[in-house]
Amino acid sequence: MDKPKVVLGVSGGIAAYKACELLRRLTESGHDVRVVPTASALHFVGAATWSALSGNPVSTEVWDDVHEVPHVRIGQQADLVVVAPATADTLAKAAHGLADDLLTNTLLTARCPVVFAPAMHTEMWEHPATQENVATLRRRGAVVVEPAVGRLTGVDTGKGRLPDPAEIFEICRRVLARGVREPDLAGRHVVVSAGGTREPLDPVRFLGNRSSGKQGYALARTAAARGARVTLIAANTGLPDPAGVDVVQVGTAVQLREAVLKAAADADAVVMAAAVADFRPAAYAAGKIKKKDDQEPDPIVLLRNPDILAEISAERARPGQVVVGFAAETDDVLANGRAKLRRKGCDLLVVNEVGERKTFGSEENEAVVLGADGSETPVPHGPKEALAETVWDLVTRRLG
Ligand SMILES: Cc1cc2nc3c(=O)[nH]c(=O)nc-3n(C[C@H](O)[C@H](O)[C@H](O)COP(=O)(O)O)c2cc1C
Repeated sequence: MDKPKVVLGVSGGIAAYKACELLRRLTESGHDVRVVPTASALHFVGAATWSALSGNPVSTEVWDDVHEVPHVRIGQQADLVVVAPATADTLAKAAHGLADDLLTNTLLTARCPVVFAPAMHTEMWEHPATQENVATLRRRGAVVVEPAVGRLTGVDTGKGRLPDPAEIFEICRRVLARGVREPDLAGRHVVVSAGGTREPLDPVRFLGNRSSGKQGYALARTAAARGARVTLIAANTGLPDPAGVDVVQVGTAVQLREAVLKAAADADAVVMAAAVADFRPAAYAAGKIKKKDDQEPDPIVLLRNPDILAEISAERARPGQVVVGFAAETDDVLANGRAKLRRKGCDLLVVNEVGERKTFGSEENEAVVLGADGSETPVPHGPKEALAETVWDLVTRRLG
């Protein structure tokens, strides 16, 4: 079988060197990669590097090898075009259909999925011109990965950093796997909660749970690859931020509730994959609770935490918002799941069986997705991202 053909567009940003790592991952995983840098990109990394690493010729202009009509053929033959880093300038050209070099011509002739990974200073990213260009590209079906927050060129920090090349590679892999299907969450805002809340007892101890956050992160990643703007509310996961996702870190159930309500205000869908503590200690000891010789410990009095899933299900922040809950059950899994779905009032409930060696922390999952309409969608044992894809399939169907 022919290798999938990937065009790696590289535009003139300081992060161009990171595209070498993306190129290596793409070639090593069996893709035929044609690098199309802009003339500015070659100020940062030379053509020899791109050519040697890809094993393919490299040019920036439409005037090389004209007999092969590269300004048309490269785009026509591609299975995926990824532009990383995408400068403000290249985003603007792509949004307006300019075609003054090989990369912009390729973007006009490609009929395959296109991924942009912008990288620039925060001011350039936040400028209304750039934001409108990004919105235009997303509306047309391109996947535009949100830049990461962190160190930028020079001493500056802020939003605009190119996400980790390994993360961009993951998005490309997912987009390629979905083929030419439209990114069906393009233009949508989705909120995902992940991890497990921790309810502090004293400065060193907390009541927590075993949730790793991996299922929530898989949901966030797959939604980004399907074109959504994603807000991930992460509780104590310790996992690296997924590319293209806005991450809000929280600790307790009360903080998670606040973050979810804020993000849900303009969300099309909210997926509550986090394990939220039902109870929290009534009192917080400012100093470490000491063990007292020959005395039994004081009992811990618990208070009920807010029921976030029931609250957002009952008071939808916007009409048609789809709310998805997760139920981790240890026994009588389906019956308990059905009862929980009715109690909470959400649209979908992902029910999985958990235990010490099941689900938590694992790379795999097995579940049944129950619908408020009575539907049951079993998802066989497999990677957490397969379950995530099924959840988004069911959500997009409900979004209409
Ligand atoms: C040192 C340096 C770093 C730059 N980094 C970026 C960047 O990260 N993002 C960006 O949008 N532009 C950046 N620019 C500006 C672009 O190179 C400039 O807008 C250029 O016209 C982009 O051309 P291209 O989009 O055809 O590659 C940088 C310029 C210099 C000199």
